[in-house]
Amino acid sequence: MARISTNAGEAADVLKAGGLVAFPTETVYGLGADAANDKAVAAIFAAKRRPRFNPLIAHVTGLEEARSLGRFDAAAQRLAEAFWPGPLTLVVRRMEDCPVSLLASAGLDTLAIRAPAHDVAQELLRAFGGAIAAPSANISGRLSPTEAEHVAESPLAEEVDIILDGGECAVGVESTIVGFDESGAPVILRPGGVAREDIEKTLGMAVRQATGASGAPSSPGQLSSHYAPRARLRLNARAPEEGEMFLAFGPDAPKGMPGLNLSVSGDPREAAANLFAFLRILDDTGAGRIAVAPVPEEGLGEAINDRLRRAAAPRGEEEG
Ligand code: TXA
Ligand code: MG
Repeated sequence: MARISTNAGEAADVLKAGGLVAFPTETVYGLGADAANDKAVAAIFAAKRRPRFNPLIAHVTGLEEARSLGRFDAAAQRLAEAFWPGPLTLVVRRMEDCPVSLLASAGLDTLAIRAPAHDVAQELLRAFGGAIAAPSANISGRLSPTEAEHVAESPLAEEVDIILDGGECAVGVESTIVGFDESGAPVILRPGGVAREDIEKTLGMAVRQATGASGAPSSPGQLSSHYAPRARLRLNARAPEEGEMFLAFGPDAPKGMPGLNLSVSGDPREAAANLFAFLRILDDTGAGRIAVAPVPEEGLGEAINDRLRRAAAPRGEEEG
């Protein structure tokens, strides 16, 4: 059973010994292991019950360290300089001598790399002294954790050696993932904590969003059902029906309904920060059905709507 700790040095020692550490980032909590240790990386896939074809993100302190793992062309470098440390993941070609386990990148010749902004994550990375492979610290397909308690209460707690507590995650949705196509053009593989508008402003161009067969944004593991609470979700609801909990958004939401408002002022950033924690609270009421108000597709609204669509998708096909 995992113990909860606030000591990054102790957690770094667990990583050095090949163990698993749940740790905070500003997006969601990660389930970390030494990225260069095949056995430790394999333990992540087993603990999460995650399909082996779904690669992991390598977390680093910043661009300098990232350059020892992957090749950064001009666009990748500009994005890293603009948004790192922060909620952005870049998918770049692996360096030939990249020390990260091939299992972490699922045998691909690309690697997803991110420098998180959370102080505790940075402290852990520095104390460990290498790349940390980490998916979100949830069982594959379920809601992502945005508090240490979310991890402690999940079956994953049995599998990790230590949960590093860094409080509530300020961003609340996972990082935006940007990859590059054959011509080197940037592609958003997953909407997330950096808004598309900000990426486009930095690059001075429109950036397309990759779509999978289902029309959903596409990373190798992005199957349709994900981020799923136990309850069924009904999207674009104006008000709850009998027996439903209501996840509202904005100042015009009907008052006095059973449920929670993601952001009374209608701020998508506040809504993103509350999203997973509020879904958990409504799920834990045992209502079994959650009606969700529409959220505008602007700024972090894109990431929120992506998570909500997957949370509402038919179950069975899941990823982590
Ligand atoms: O905010 C986040 O990104 C959190 C924190 C812990 O960093 N991590 C996270 O990891 O969300 P995970 O494993 O839940 O999602 C990572 C996504 C998966 O959809 C995976 O398919 C994609 O990144 N990915 C990883 N490596 C890739 C690669 N080489 N090419 C394309 N997509 C990749
Ligand atoms: Mg995940």
